[in-house]
Amino acid sequence: MKKKKLLGAVMASALLVSSLASCSGEVNYTADMAEYAYEDKAPSICEVYKDYFQVGSAINPRDLEEGTDRFNIINKQFNVFTLENDTKPETIHPSEDVYNFDSTDQLVEFGEKYDKTVRGHTLVWHSQCPDWFFYDDEGNQVTADVLVERMKEHITTIVSRYKGKIDTWDVCNEVVDDSYGLRLSNWLKIIGDYDGDGDNYDYIQIAFETAHEADPDARLIINDYSLEVNSNKTITMYNMLKQLLEEGVPIDGVGIQMHIDYETDVERMRDNIQLLAKLREIDPDFVIEVTELDLSCFTSYDNSTEKEITEEFTEQFDAKYCEVLNLLMDLSDEGILDTVVFWGYDDGSSWLNDFPVEGRTNYPLLIDRDLKFKSAYWDLMNLPRQREEEASAQE
Ligand code: G3I
Repeated sequence: MKKKKLLGAVMASALLVSSLASCSGEVNYTADMAEYAYEDKAPSICEVYKDYFQVGSAINPRDLEEGTDRFNIINKQFNVFTLENDTKPETIHPSEDVYNFDSTDQLVEFGEKYDKTVRGHTLVWHSQCPDWFFYDDEGNQVTADVLVERMKEHITTIVSRYKGKIDTWDVCNEVVDDSYGLRLSNWLKIIGDYDGDGDNYDYIQIAFETAHEADPDARLIINDYSLEVNSNKTITMYNMLKQLLEEGVPIDGVGIQMHIDYETDVERMRDNIQLLAKLREIDPDFVIEVTELDLSCFTSYDNSTEKEITEEFTEQFDAKYCEVLNLLMDLSDEGILDTVVFWGYDDGSSWLNDFPVEGRTNYPLLIDRDLKFKSAYWDLMNLPRQREEEASAQE
């Protein structure tokens, strides 16, 4: 289903939820239903949240091997997917004349076979992007004209190949600087104010226009981290998008990565997201997506490698996940959000075991290292029902 249509459906069903009996059913989900996430009797988180948003995961090619435990998990739990690394420029387009489409083809085939939404991550990024884009054969930096041509060819080739098959593209990733303004990436440095109109949003504008030309029905997203907590970034993003949307640049929504931790202030998240949602005054169809959700067991000022997972900590961790998902359901009820993607599904495979501290043991997801459901999973499974029960008790 195309996302714009889906959002309408989500809004309609949110209205229905408030007027009819609970669509999440009467089921009380308990840990004795299934110990391992790959068991046939395991329930499904995307099913439980279907009246609010799609629930997805970043995955890797090994997850797509049919019949394996990992395949059983992802196929049952999620209905929207992003490849964690394999659609990034360094993998899909490692040198000017070489494209590696294998993994992305595999994801798209899986999506078609099992009726899943497929996201493409990402076309233009400063990281995991090979140097050939920015330098010529002699090692000199290319001109703005050359880089624009290379970027257009890259985007057109990839987006056209998956026209009608990849529903959503993270067209530009992490373009905003952590303190103020745009990140000084090679894209920005070389292309700069290409049309001479006084702003330097040009590479972003060209990227979106090129992607839109290649697939006018794809949902085109600008994706970034810390938008939910770093208000400087949120304001920069808001100001840029306001101008670009007013100029008619085809940007359909903003992707909030949402790499948070167990202490993240959820009310600040709400405020920042609501600022971005004001862009709907310019484009009523503008959406917010949560694109890379995980919840670190270490705060940003904690550099340790091990964390003692006490009962008390687990309660705090599970409660934070519930608080966040409640916020996301609120946003869905307002018609702002229809997609929530976790950045992986099991603690053992998370990027957070190596970042920002290498070799640490983190526990940021809903399934543990043995592929068993964690208590946070069961809490989230019961949340929509509890929310609906509370809403009807208040009527
Ligand atoms: O593929 C090589 C492998 O051949 C080699 O043996 C191994 C040794 O370290 O490295 C492997 O590459 C790693 C790659 O992931 C694939 O596993 C890189 O070192 C590692 O840096 C890379 O990390 C990825 C990171 O992006 C790179 O910036 C993470 O898996 C991936 O989760 C992460 O994803 C990003 C999103 O794209 C954008 N938002 C932030 C998010 C988290 O950083």
